[in-house]
Amino acid sequence: MQDKQIEKLIKEEEKRQKSVINLIASENYVSSDVLKALGSKLTNKYAEGYPGKRYYGGNTVIDKVENLAISRALKLFKLKPTEWHVNVQLLSGSPANFALYSALVPLGGKIMGMKLTSGGHLTHGHPLSMTGKLWKPLQFELDSKTEVIDYDALKKIAKAEKPDIIVCGFTAYPRVVDFKKFREIADAVVYPDGRRGALLHVDMSHFAGLVAGGAYPSPFPYADSVMTTTHKSLRGPRQALLFVKKDERGFDKKLDKMVIPGLFGGPHENNIAAVAVALEEATKPDFKKYAKQVVKNAKVLARELKKSGWHIISGGTDSHLILVDTWMDGKGISGKEAGIKLEDAGIIVNMNTIPGDKRSVMDPSGIRLGTCAETTRGAKEVDMVKLAFKMNKILRA
Ligand SMILES: Cc1ncc(COP(=O)(O)O)c(C=O)c1O
Repeated sequence: MQDKQIEKLIKEEEKRQKSVINLIASENYVSSDVLKALGSKLTNKYAEGYPGKRYYGGNTVIDKVENLAISRALKLFKLKPTEWHVNVQLLSGSPANFALYSALVPLGGKIMGMKLTSGGHLTHGHPLSMTGKLWKPLQFELDSKTEVIDYDALKKIAKAEKPDIIVCGFTAYPRVVDFKKFREIADAVVYPDGRRGALLHVDMSHFAGLVAGGAYPSPFPYADSVMTTTHKSLRGPRQALLFVKKDERGFDKKLDKMVIPGLFGGPHENNIAAVAVALEEATKPDFKKYAKQVVKNAKVLARELKKSGWHIISGGTDSHLILVDTWMDGKGISGKEAGIKLEDAGIIVNMNTIPGDKRSVMDPSGIRLGTCAETTRGAKEVDMVKLAFKMNKILRA
Protein backbone atom coordinates (compact mmCIF):
# COMPACT_ATOMS: atom_id res chain seq x y z
CA MET A 1 0.00 0.00 0.00
CA GLN A 2 1.14 3.57 -0.69
CA ASP A 3 -0.65 4.80 2.43
CA LYS A 4 1.72 3.55 5.09
CA GLN A 5 -0.31 4.92 7.99
CA ILE A 6 -3.42 2.92 7.07
CA GLU A 7 -1.34 -0.12 6.06
CA LYS A 8 0.26 -0.12 9.50
CA LEU A 9 -3.12 0.14 11.23
CA ILE A 10 -4.57 -2.71 9.16
CA LYS A 11 -1.60 -4.88 10.13
CA GLU A 12 -1.98 -3.89 13.77
CA GLU A 13 -5.65 -4.86 13.72
CA GLU A 14 -4.88 -8.16 11.96
CA LYS A 15 -2.35 -8.93 14.69
CA ARG A 16 -4.86 -8.01 17.40
CA GLN A 17 -7.51 -10.26 15.85
CA LYS A 18 -5.06 -13.18 15.72
CA SER A 19 -3.87 -12.72 19.28
CA VAL A 20 -7.21 -12.69 21.13
CA ILE A 21 -10.02 -15.13 21.88
CA ASN A 22 -13.06 -13.52 20.32
CA LEU A 23 -16.35 -14.15 22.10
CA ILE A 24 -18.24 -11.17 20.63
CA ALA A 25 -21.52 -12.84 19.67
CA SER A 26 -22.05 -10.66 16.58
CA GLU A 27 -18.59 -11.10 15.02
CA ASN A 28 -17.01 -13.70 12.80
CA TYR A 29 -14.02 -14.24 10.50
CA VAL A 30 -14.82 -14.07 6.77
CA SER A 31 -13.08 -16.17 4.13
CA SER A 32 -10.36 -14.78 1.86
CA ASP A 33 -12.84 -15.00 -1.05
CA VAL A 34 -15.26 -12.71 0.78
CA LEU A 35 -12.40 -10.27 1.37
CA LYS A 36 -11.39 -10.43 -2.29
CA ALA A 37 -14.91 -9.56 -3.43
CA LEU A 38 -15.10 -6.75 -0.87
CA GLY A 39 -11.83 -5.23 -2.04
CA SER A 40 -12.66 -5.64 -5.74
CA LYS A 41 -13.15 -3.02 -8.46
CA LEU A 42 -16.90 -3.51 -8.18
CA THR A 43 -16.64 -0.67 -5.65
CA ASN A 44 -16.02 1.74 -8.55
CA LYS A 45 -19.49 1.35 -10.03
CA TYR A 46 -22.62 3.41 -9.48
CA ALA A 47 -25.73 1.27 -9.91
CA GLU A 48 -28.75 3.17 -8.56
CA GLY A 49 -31.88 1.15 -9.28
CA TYR A 50 -32.28 -2.58 -9.76
CA PRO A 51 -31.01 -5.16 -12.28
CA GLY A 52 -32.37 -4.22 -15.72
CA LYS A 53 -33.67 -0.87 -14.37
CA ARG A 54 -30.64 1.28 -13.53
CA TYR A 55 -30.35 5.05 -13.66
CA TYR A 56 -26.72 4.70 -14.85
CA GLY A 57 -25.18 3.00 -17.88
CA GLY A 58 -22.49 0.32 -17.79
CA ASN A 59 -24.26 -2.06 -15.46
CA THR A 60 -24.44 -5.30 -17.46
CA VAL A 61 -21.91 -7.06 -15.26
CA ILE A 62 -23.19 -5.49 -12.04
CA ASP A 63 -26.71 -6.71 -12.88
CA LYS A 64 -25.37 -10.26 -13.07
CA VAL A 65 -23.66 -9.86 -9.68
CA GLU A 66 -26.81 -8.59 -8.02
CA ASN A 67 -29.03 -11.22 -9.64
CA LEU A 68 -26.66 -13.92 -8.44
CA ALA A 69 -26.79 -12.59 -4.87
CA ILE A 70 -30.61 -12.57 -5.05
CA SER A 71 -30.90 -16.13 -6.35
CA ARG A 72 -28.35 -17.41 -3.82
CA ALA A 73 -30.16 -15.71 -0.92
CA LEU A 74 -33.46 -17.36 -1.90
CA LYS A 75 -31.80 -20.73 -2.50
CA LEU A 76 -29.92 -20.77 0.81
CA PHE A 77 -33.13 -20.34 2.80
CA LYS A 78 -35.09 -22.72 0.51
CA LEU A 79 -37.47 -20.03 -0.75
CA LYS A 80 -39.42 -20.04 -4.01
CA PRO A 81 -38.94 -16.86 -6.07
CA THR A 82 -42.69 -16.91 -6.70
CA GLU A 83 -43.38 -16.72 -2.93
CA TRP A 84 -40.56 -14.57 -1.54
CA HIS A 85 -38.76 -11.43 -2.66
CA VAL A 86 -35.37 -10.31 -1.36
CA ASN A 87 -33.73 -6.90 -1.53
CA VAL A 88 -29.93 -7.28 -1.28
CA GLN A 89 -29.05 -3.57 -1.27
CA LEU A 90 -29.46 -2.86 2.44
CA LEU A 91 -26.24 -1.47 3.88
CA SER A 92 -26.58 -2.97 7.35
CA GLY A 93 -29.12 -4.30 9.83
CA SER A 94 -30.32 -1.01 11.33
CA PRO A 95 -31.10 0.69 7.99
CA ALA A 96 -32.72 -2.55 6.83
CA ASN A 97 -35.18 -2.59 9.74
CA PHE A 98 -35.80 1.12 9.19
CA ALA A 99 -36.52 0.48 5.49
CA LEU A 100 -38.94 -2.30 6.37
CA TYR A 101 -40.99 -0.20 8.79
CA SER A 102 -40.89 2.77 6.40
CA ALA A 103 -42.25 0.59 3.61
CA LEU A 104 -44.92 -1.35 5.50
CA VAL A 105 -45.94 0.49 8.69
CA PRO A 106 -47.71 3.88 8.52
CA LEU A 107 -45.79 6.62 10.37
CA GLY A 108 -47.14 6.78 13.93
CA GLY A 109 -48.18 3.10 13.77
CA LYS A 110 -47.28 0.72 16.59
CA ILE A 111 -44.15 -1.47 16.65
CA MET A 112 -44.20 -4.26 19.23
CA GLY A 113 -40.70 -5.52 19.98
CA MET A 114 -38.58 -6.88 22.77
CA LYS A 115 -37.05 -4.40 25.19
CA LEU A 116 -33.30 -3.87 24.91
CA THR A 117 -32.70 -5.10 28.46
CA SER A 118 -34.55 -8.34 27.63
CA GLY A 119 -32.42 -8.95 24.54
CA GLY A 120 -34.13 -6.91 21.81
CA HIS A 121 -32.34 -4.53 19.44
CA LEU A 122 -32.47 -0.72 19.42
CA THR A 123 -34.24 -0.85 16.04
CA HIS A 124 -37.12 -2.86 17.51
CA GLY A 125 -38.71 0.36 18.76
CA HIS A 126 -36.34 1.54 21.51
CA PRO A 127 -37.27 5.11 22.50
CA LEU A 128 -33.74 6.36 21.67
CA SER A 129 -33.88 4.89 18.15
CA MET A 130 -35.80 6.71 15.40
CA THR A 131 -37.84 3.49 15.18
CA GLY A 132 -39.22 4.40 18.61
CA LYS A 133 -39.80 8.05 17.67
CA LEU A 134 -41.42 7.86 14.23
CA TRP A 135 -43.53 4.88 15.29
CA LYS A 136 -45.13 4.15 18.68
CA PRO A 137 -43.04 1.63 20.61
CA LEU A 138 -44.66 -1.18 22.52
CA GLN A 139 -41.83 -2.94 24.29
CA PHE A 140 -42.25 -6.35 25.93
CA GLU A 141 -40.06 -8.10 28.49
CA LEU A 142 -39.14 -11.68 29.36
CA ASP A 143 -40.79 -13.60 32.15
CA SER A 144 -38.82 -12.53 35.23
CA LYS A 145 -38.70 -16.03 36.76
CA THR A 146 -37.95 -18.25 33.74
CA GLU A 147 -36.01 -15.55 31.82
CA VAL A 148 -37.64 -16.75 28.59
CA ILE A 149 -40.49 -15.44 26.44
CA ASP A 150 -43.96 -15.82 27.95
CA TYR A 151 -46.07 -16.32 24.80
CA ASP A 152 -49.39 -16.13 26.66
CA ALA A 153 -48.45 -12.77 28.18
CA LEU A 154 -47.40 -11.52 24.74
CA LYS A 155 -50.72 -12.56 23.24
CA LYS A 156 -52.61 -10.61 25.90
CA ILE A 157 -50.49 -7.50 25.24
CA ALA A 158 -50.90 -7.80 21.46
CA LYS A 159 -54.67 -8.30 21.67
CA ALA A 160 -55.09 -5.29 23.97
CA GLU A 161 -52.61 -2.91 22.30
CA LYS A 162 -53.15 -3.89 18.64
CA PRO A 163 -49.68 -3.25 17.21
CA ASP A 164 -49.31 -2.82 13.45
CA ILE A 165 -46.21 -4.99 13.41
CA ILE A 166 -44.64 -7.48 15.80
CA VAL A 167 -40.88 -7.80 15.65
CA CYS A 168 -39.52 -11.15 16.67
CA GLY A 169 -35.75 -11.28 16.85
CA PHE A 170 -33.03 -10.52 19.28
CA THR A 171 -29.53 -9.42 19.94
CA ALA A 172 -29.12 -11.12 23.30
CA TYR A 173 -31.71 -13.89 23.66
CA PRO A 174 -30.06 -17.33 23.75
CA ARG A 175 -33.07 -19.59 23.25
CA VAL A 176 -34.92 -21.03 20.27
CA VAL A 177 -37.95 -18.97 19.39
CA ASP A 178 -41.34 -20.50 18.64
CA PHE A 179 -42.14 -18.69 15.39
CA LYS A 180 -45.48 -20.51 15.08
CA LYS A 181 -46.58 -19.03 18.41
CA PHE A 182 -45.47 -15.57 17.26
CA ARG A 183 -47.62 -16.05 14.13
CA GLU A 184 -50.61 -16.97 16.31
CA ILE A 185 -50.01 -13.87 18.44
CA ALA A 186 -49.87 -11.65 15.33
CA ASP A 187 -53.02 -13.29 13.94
CA ALA A 188 -54.89 -12.71 17.22
CA VAL A 189 -54.77 -8.92 16.74
CA VAL A 190 -58.15 -7.44 15.71
CA TYR A 191 -58.28 -3.71 14.85
CA PRO A 192 -61.26 -1.44 15.64
CA ASP A 193 -62.26 -1.39 11.94
CA GLY A 194 -62.52 -5.20 11.92
CA ARG A 195 -59.24 -5.88 10.09
CA ARG A 196 -57.39 -8.86 11.53
CA GLY A 197 -53.73 -9.77 11.90
CA ALA A 198 -50.58 -7.76 12.64
CA LEU A 199 -47.51 -8.11 10.44
CA LEU A 200 -44.86 -10.49 11.73
CA HIS A 201 -41.29 -9.36 11.08
CA VAL A 202 -38.47 -11.68 12.09
CA ASP A 203 -35.04 -10.17 12.64
CA MET A 204 -32.80 -13.25 12.37
CA SER A 205 -29.56 -11.23 12.25
CA HIS A 206 -27.96 -13.27 14.99
CA PHE A 207 -29.05 -16.78 14.07
CA ALA A 208 -29.32 -16.66 10.23
CA GLY A 209 -26.18 -18.76 9.81
CA LEU A 210 -27.62 -21.34 12.19
CA VAL A 211 -30.87 -21.43 10.17
CA ALA A 212 -28.84 -21.85 6.97
CA GLY A 213 -26.85 -24.66 8.58
CA GLY A 214 -29.93 -26.45 9.96
CA ALA A 215 -29.04 -25.74 13.60
CA TYR A 216 -31.97 -23.39 14.38
CA PRO A 217 -35.60 -23.38 13.14
CA SER A 218 -36.45 -21.36 10.05
CA PRO A 219 -38.81 -18.39 10.54
CA PHE A 220 -39.87 -18.31 6.88
CA PRO A 221 -42.97 -20.55 7.17
CA TYR A 222 -44.53 -18.04 9.59
CA ALA A 223 -43.17 -14.54 8.86
CA ASP A 224 -44.38 -11.76 6.55
CA SER A 225 -40.86 -10.37 6.39
CA VAL A 226 -37.42 -11.49 7.51
CA MET A 227 -34.30 -9.39 7.92
CA THR A 228 -30.78 -10.57 8.53
CA THR A 229 -27.41 -8.96 8.78
CA THR A 230 -24.86 -10.98 6.82
CA HIS A 231 -21.85 -10.50 9.10
CA LYS A 232 -22.71 -12.48 12.21
CA SER A 233 -23.34 -16.26 12.18
CA LEU A 234 -23.72 -16.09 8.38
CA ARG A 235 -20.00 -15.21 8.14
CA GLY A 236 -20.20 -12.65 5.35
CA PRO A 237 -19.38 -8.94 4.91
CA ARG A 238 -21.21 -6.13 6.74
CA GLN A 239 -24.52 -5.85 4.85
CA ALA A 240 -28.13 -7.01 5.25
CA LEU A 241 -30.76 -9.00 3.38
CA LEU A 242 -34.43 -8.11 3.61
CA PHE A 243 -36.99 -10.71 2.55
CA VAL A 244 -40.72 -10.01 2.13
CA LYS A 245 -43.60 -12.30 1.19
CA LYS A 246 -44.60 -11.95 -2.44
CA ASP A 247 -48.40 -11.78 -2.67
CA GLU A 248 -51.34 -9.51 -3.44
CA ARG A 249 -50.27 -7.10 -0.67
CA GLY A 250 -47.44 -5.91 -2.93
CA PHE A 251 -44.76 -5.79 -0.21
CA ASP A 252 -42.04 -6.53 -2.78
CA LYS A 253 -42.80 -3.39 -4.79
CA LYS A 254 -43.32 -1.24 -1.66
CA LEU A 255 -39.97 -2.35 -0.23
CA ASP A 256 -37.96 -1.85 -3.40
CA LYS A 257 -39.44 1.64 -3.85
CA MET A 258 -38.63 2.52 -0.25
CA VAL A 259 -35.00 1.37 -0.59
CA ILE A 260 -34.49 3.48 -3.73
CA PRO A 261 -35.63 6.25 -4.24
CA GLY A 262 -37.09 6.33 -0.70
CA LEU A 263 -34.01 6.00 1.46
CA PHE A 264 -30.78 5.19 -0.37
CA GLY A 265 -28.75 5.97 -3.46
CA GLY A 266 -26.23 3.69 -5.10
CA PRO A 267 -25.89 0.16 -3.70
CA HIS A 268 -22.46 -1.09 -2.60
CA GLU A 269 -22.01 -3.73 -5.28
CA ASN A 270 -18.66 -4.95 -3.94
CA ASN A 271 -20.46 -5.78 -0.68
CA ILE A 272 -23.28 -7.44 -2.59
CA ALA A 273 -20.73 -9.62 -4.41
CA ALA A 274 -19.11 -10.50 -1.08
CA VAL A 275 -22.55 -11.43 0.30
CA ALA A 276 -23.07 -13.68 -2.73
CA VAL A 277 -19.77 -15.42 -1.95
CA ALA A 278 -20.74 -15.95 1.70
CA LEU A 279 -24.19 -17.27 0.70
CA GLU A 280 -22.60 -19.85 -1.60
CA GLU A 281 -20.14 -20.85 1.14
CA ALA A 282 -23.07 -21.36 3.51
CA THR A 283 -24.64 -23.96 1.19
CA LYS A 284 -21.64 -26.30 1.61
CA PRO A 285 -21.73 -29.38 3.89
CA ASP A 286 -18.84 -27.87 5.87
CA PHE A 287 -21.03 -24.93 6.84
CA LYS A 288 -23.71 -27.30 8.20
CA LYS A 289 -21.05 -28.92 10.38
CA TYR A 290 -19.85 -25.46 11.40
CA ALA A 291 -23.34 -24.29 12.45
CA LYS A 292 -23.91 -27.42 14.55
CA GLN A 293 -20.48 -27.04 16.17
CA VAL A 294 -21.23 -23.39 17.02
CA VAL A 295 -24.26 -24.51 19.05
CA LYS A 296 -22.43 -27.47 20.65
CA ASN A 297 -19.62 -25.13 21.73
CA ALA A 298 -22.02 -22.59 23.20
CA LYS A 299 -23.87 -25.28 25.17
CA VAL A 300 -20.61 -26.54 26.69
CA LEU A 301 -19.35 -23.04 27.51
CA ALA A 302 -22.68 -22.19 29.18
CA ARG A 303 -22.75 -25.49 31.11
CA GLU A 304 -19.18 -25.08 32.40
CA LEU A 305 -19.64 -21.45 33.46
CA LYS A 306 -22.83 -22.46 35.24
CA LYS A 307 -20.96 -25.25 37.04
CA SER A 308 -18.47 -22.61 38.24
CA GLY A 309 -21.32 -20.74 39.91
CA TRP A 310 -22.20 -18.04 37.35
CA HIS A 311 -25.84 -17.27 36.67
CA ILE A 312 -26.56 -18.11 33.04
CA ILE A 313 -29.70 -16.29 31.89
CA SER A 314 -32.48 -18.81 31.10
CA GLY A 315 -30.21 -21.58 32.42
CA GLY A 316 -28.38 -22.23 29.14
CA THR A 317 -28.55 -21.73 25.40
CA ASP A 318 -29.96 -23.23 22.21
CA SER A 319 -27.86 -21.06 19.91
CA HIS A 320 -24.44 -19.44 19.60
CA LEU A 321 -25.24 -16.93 22.31
CA ILE A 322 -24.87 -16.96 26.09
CA LEU A 323 -25.89 -14.23 28.49
CA VAL A 324 -24.05 -14.34 31.81
CA ASP A 325 -25.24 -12.48 34.88
CA THR A 326 -21.87 -11.59 36.40
CA TRP A 327 -23.34 -9.18 38.98
CA MET A 328 -25.61 -11.72 40.67
CA ASP A 329 -27.35 -9.18 42.93
CA GLY A 330 -24.04 -7.72 44.13
CA LYS A 331 -22.39 -11.06 44.88
CA GLY A 332 -20.28 -10.88 41.72
CA ILE A 333 -18.81 -8.12 39.55
CA SER A 334 -20.42 -5.74 37.06
CA GLY A 335 -20.50 -6.51 33.34
CA LYS A 336 -18.12 -3.63 32.66
CA GLU A 337 -15.58 -4.88 35.18
CA ALA A 338 -15.93 -8.42 33.84
CA GLY A 339 -15.33 -7.20 30.28
CA ILE A 340 -12.21 -5.27 31.28
CA LYS A 341 -10.76 -8.17 33.30
CA LEU A 342 -11.32 -10.59 30.43
CA GLU A 343 -9.90 -8.20 27.82
CA ASP A 344 -6.76 -7.71 29.95
CA ALA A 345 -6.32 -11.48 29.67
CA GLY A 346 -6.93 -11.53 25.90
CA ILE A 347 -10.59 -12.63 25.91
CA ILE A 348 -12.90 -10.18 24.15
CA VAL A 349 -16.58 -10.02 25.18
CA ASN A 350 -19.16 -7.26 25.44
CA MET A 351 -20.89 -6.03 28.56
CA ASN A 352 -24.65 -6.47 28.33
CA THR A 353 -27.80 -5.73 30.25
CA ILE A 354 -29.69 -8.72 31.59
CA PRO A 355 -33.49 -9.11 31.85
CA GLY A 356 -34.89 -6.63 34.37
CA ASP A 357 -31.45 -5.02 34.79
CA LYS A 358 -31.39 -2.29 37.45
CA ARG A 359 -27.87 -1.16 36.52
CA SER A 360 -27.05 1.23 33.67
CA VAL A 361 -26.41 0.26 30.04
CA MET A 362 -22.90 1.67 30.44
CA ASP A 363 -22.18 -0.55 33.44
CA PRO A 364 -24.73 -3.35 33.30
CA SER A 365 -25.08 -6.62 35.20
CA GLY A 366 -23.80 -9.03 32.60
CA ILE A 367 -21.73 -10.03 29.63
CA ARG A 368 -22.77 -11.56 26.33
CA LEU A 369 -20.74 -14.36 24.80
CA GLY A 370 -20.92 -16.04 21.40
CA THR A 371 -19.12 -18.94 19.79
CA CYS A 372 -19.33 -18.11 16.03
CA ALA A 373 -15.88 -16.57 15.66
CA GLU A 374 -13.92 -19.12 17.70
CA THR A 375 -15.73 -22.02 15.98
CA THR A 376 -14.61 -20.60 12.62
CA ARG A 377 -11.08 -20.90 13.98
CA GLY A 378 -11.68 -24.56 14.74
CA ALA A 379 -12.61 -24.53 18.44
CA LYS A 380 -14.32 -27.68 19.76
CA GLU A 381 -16.05 -28.68 23.00
CA VAL A 382 -12.77 -29.46 24.77
CA ASP A 383 -11.55 -25.91 24.07
CA MET A 384 -14.75 -24.55 25.60
CA VAL A 385 -14.18 -26.50 28.81
CA LYS A 386 -10.68 -25.01 29.08
CA LEU A 387 -11.95 -21.55 28.19
CA ALA A 388 -14.68 -21.63 30.86
CA PHE A 389 -12.08 -22.68 33.47
CA LYS A 390 -9.82 -19.78 32.46
CA MET A 391 -12.67 -17.26 32.39
CA ASN A 392 -13.88 -18.29 35.82
CA LYS A 393 -10.37 -17.84 37.24
CA ILE A 394 -10.01 -14.40 35.65
CA LEU A 395 -13.43 -13.21 36.78
CA ARG A 396 -12.86 -14.33 40.38
CA ALA A 397 -9.31 -12.94 40.65
C1 LIG B 1 -30.97 -8.41 16.03
C2 LIG B 1 -30.20 -7.30 15.39
N1 LIG B 1 -30.83 -6.51 14.50
C3 LIG B 1 -30.20 -5.49 13.90
C4 LIG B 1 -28.89 -5.21 14.18
C5 LIG B 1 -28.25 -4.03 13.53
O1 LIG B 1 -27.27 -4.37 12.64
P1 LIG B 1 -26.15 -3.31 12.18
O2 LIG B 1 -25.20 -3.19 13.33
O3 LIG B 1 -25.57 -3.97 10.97
O4 LIG B 1 -26.85 -2.04 11.87
C6 LIG B 1 -28.19 -6.01 15.09
C7 LIG B 1 -26.78 -5.72 15.39
O5 LIG B 1 -26.27 -5.91 16.44
C8 LIG B 1 -28.87 -7.08 15.71
O6 LIG B 1 -28.27 -7.86 16.62
